Amino acid sequence: MELLSKIDLQRTPRHVAIIMDGNGRWAQKQGHMRLYGHNFGVESVRETLKAAKELKIDFLTLYAFSTENWNRPKEEVDGLMDLLVRSISGEIEELMSSNVRLMSIGNIEGLPQSCIDELHDAIDRTKDNTGIHLVLALNYSARWEITNAVQQIAQKVKDQSINPEEITDDLIGHYLTTSEIPDPELLIRTSGEHRVSNFLLWQIAYTEFHFTEVLWPDFKREDLFKAVLDYQSRERRFGMVSEQLT
Ligand code: IPE
Ligand code: IPE
Ligand code: MG
Repeated sequence: MELLSKIDLQRTPRHVAIIMDGNGRWAQKQGHMRLYGHNFGVESVRETLKAAKELKIDFLTLYAFSTENWNRPKEEVDGLMDLLVRSISGEIEELMSSNVRLMSIGNIEGLPQSCIDELHDAIDRTKDNTGIHLVLALNYSARWEITNAVQQIAQKVKDQSINPEEITDDLIGHYLTTSEIPDPELLIRTSGEHRVSNFLLWQIAYTEFHFTEVLWPDFKREDLFKAVLDYQSRERRFGMVSEQLT
């Protein structure tokens, strides 16, 4: 039986975030350079986006490049930046025809200018699309994002435009790069690693985690369905007890 038919489409997560990990190991296992794996990872992005649409998911956030990833060998970083520009320009028509709205989170201004330009152009062109939001986390670091929010709020307090008592968790959320994005209900990490690697620390307070051994270039439609089925088998208690939930 197809996995899709087991999923309750009325209870799919509104926002799924994915730590797309394992490209390098996937390539090396086949005797190729790491960049070969990153290139194949783009096909998994396409498939996952399509599958997310089938599930009526509203936001799909993909961790594509962390601030810590700048520490990789220059050749790999350059290759990833180049791949980013090529993928966005290569996919833009498809994003338009499938009504996808592209967004980004992270320290975008810290990317090479060619990436900034391509990204801004694609975000602008897709801004009136009403289908799924595809959110790319680029030069993203949750600690950077929180530190940045704290600095901005501290400045407002200093300028006396807000009082310390007015600092609520909603207000803090407003200063994060995810201010227009709901918190994810489901976070997936591929490649068998069980860590968060500085991703969405504030936003995952009550997120369900799904870990899979599958390496990102092997991640396909059915893998997303498995993750959502796993999510639907969980009881989200938000600090309460089971009996209170019915
Ligand atoms: C994830 O795959 C992609 C990025 C971090 C850009 P990796 O490149 O981390 O692959 P592994 O973890 O080394 O196999
Ligand atoms: C996390 O993967 C970042 C992205 C997927 C973009 P990494 O491969 O960089 O994470 P670590 O180094 O294994 O924690
Ligand atoms: Mg990795």
